[in-house]
Amino acid sequence: MAAHIPLAPVESSTEARIRTLASDLKQQPGALLPILHAVQDTFGYVPECTAAVLATELALSRAEVHGVISFYHHFRTRPAGAHVLHICRAEACQSMGSAALERDIKQLLNIDYHQTTADGSVTLEPVYCLGNCACSPNIRLDDAIHGRMTLARTERLLQQLKEGQA
Ligand code: FES
Repeated sequence: MAAHIPLAPVESSTEARIRTLASDLKQQPGALLPILHAVQDTFGYVPECTAAVLATELALSRAEVHGVISFYHHFRTRPAGAHVLHICRAEACQSMGSAALERDIKQLLNIDYHQTTADGSVTLEPVYCLGNCACSPNIRLDDAIHGRMTLARTERLLQQLKEGQA
């Protein structure tokens, strides 16, 4: 009878990719944040296995890594919707009515910040200055910045996205 040889746990491709990102960046001072940014840039969110992998790579506890992930709203622990809508909440946009726009867009989408619409089409995020203050209030829809925004213009943009024209 053949001897039973225990198999080492197989690392998923997600874990392997996170480990590679970590080993590329872990020499930087304060490496955890840049690594987490790289993880989110790579996957669009921070997968659940990240804390375990980074705890090993950076000699931290899982709780420490979890603490940083949950402290920064920027890090998503679930995949975003098909499109990400950022509303600028910084001063110039505030002075031009972004608070009302924000309230109306939340109502329109029926979600709050860091949430995704029920159909998975839009995730809503705040942002603090898009560098387009002269055209406040501003939003960013995926990679495109749109200035002098109103609710009606936002609705049109979202409609165009649905129709595949934006
Ligand atoms: S304050 Fe909104 S773009 Fe600068």
